[in-house]
Amino acid sequence: MSAFAYRDGDLYCEGVPLAHLAMEVGEPLYVYSLDEVERRYRPYADAFPDALVCYAYKANSSLALCAWLHRLGAGADVVSGGELRVAQAAGVPGHRTVFNGNGKSDAEIALALEGDVLSINADAVEELERIAAIAERLGRRAPVSIRVNPGVDPHTHRHIATGVTSSQFGVAIAEAEDAYAQLASFPSLAAVGIHCHIGSQITQLGPFVETVDLLADLARRLLRQGYPLRLLDVGGGLGIDYGRWQGADPDASHSPLTPTALADALLPRVRDLGLRLLLEPGRSLVAPAGVLLGQVLHLKRGADTTRVVLDTGMNALIRPSLYEAYHAILPVRAAPTAMTVDVVGPNCESSDVVGRGRALPALASGDVIAIMDSGAYGYALASNYNSRPRPAEVVVRGERWWITREAETWDGLLHGQRLPSV
Ligand code: LLP
Repeated sequence: MSAFAYRDGDLYCEGVPLAHLAMEVGEPLYVYSLDEVERRYRPYADAFPDALVCYAYKANSSLALCAWLHRLGAGADVVSGGELRVAQAAGVPGHRTVFNGNGKSDAEIALALEGDVLSINADAVEELERIAAIAERLGRRAPVSIRVNPGVDPHTHRHIATGVTSSQFGVAIAEAEDAYAQLASFPSLAAVGIHCHIGSQITQLGPFVETVDLLADLARRLLRQGYPLRLLDVGGGLGIDYGRWQGADPDASHSPLTPTALADALLPRVRDLGLRLLLEPGRSLVAPAGVLLGQVLHLKRGADTTRVVLDTGMNALIRPSLYEAYHAILPVRAAPTAMTVDVVGPNCESSDVVGRGRALPALASGDVIAIMDSGAYGYALASNYNSRPRPAEVVVRGERWWITREAETWDGLLHGQRLPSV
């Protein structure tokens, strides 16, 4: 089951027709299903009852979703002062928040320490000295984990593979013990855990198993040496099945890798360590819970290709342009397939193609389409390119819905700008 389904020819989000939302609020518009977020979160909570599931805010840091995930029991994985402020506004306590990132400013480190986060995950030994100095200045002991790069290939798009040796993230696992020795040399730092994240949109179990075996070995060595570790943070990365809308039955196929399968494979490998497991899922919690609604402006007939021109594109959802990512495109009112088209955005870039060679009904100016699975890395990566305002966001629960973020406006884009007095 998905929260998005056709009923009597109308595409619904839970109990609300998307066409109704488009009419009431206007497109472009992000729509999220709280039920779907819950349905995606529960399997993690059930499969990892003793773990802390820290939702990766970078996937979608909209306050309404973050607060909902907090209510469901999730902690927060944040990578910036801005994300930490959202977590705090959502009510997530510091002891359920981890602070990640490979470039933290002094102000962000101070904010994390003042917010009593569970762990600051250091990306490099060179970062330790700065964290230590700030902790000392604030009269605190900073809880620190080191992000370890295990050198494992997650078999995903090269832009989102982070655990390979050539990536810029983390400390190579061969150098990890030295890094912990350096950590221990700073009196204002406390080694609390090990962190790792090997990549995103991972659809196979193998890379996780390989990684966790390497981390467990490292943890055993460090524990034997007396480091008072408490946490083993294995990051996020579970992929979703973006292709599941292509068949006749959108619910016929499922996420290629489930939290249950992950738990079955990982938990026996780490049980003896006595460490608290942390997970940082982003995409798998929120991607399937969101759609981006766009309006057809017109059809443009070329020599070999007909193009459907939308009022939204890479400015609101950059994944297809950036990674050639596939997102299903569905009409909000069902009709028989009538044409094969390229669906393009309105921005002045030849990469602003939302989907190529898509079989769609005979669309006309004013029709509304839904770009599926846009809940993760959609709004979060939206920009004002071509000076387009970012869309509004709506959250649905049953038959009720709320505008949880207003659309930006043309005038709003001028806010804070000044002319120089030349
Ligand atoms: N933890 C860390 C340290 C991360 O860097 C990430 C994602 C996550 C957790 C969450 O990973 P997830 O469960 O969402 O796969 N913009 C790209 C994805 C970039 C992922 C960056 N790191 C996309 O749209 O596919």
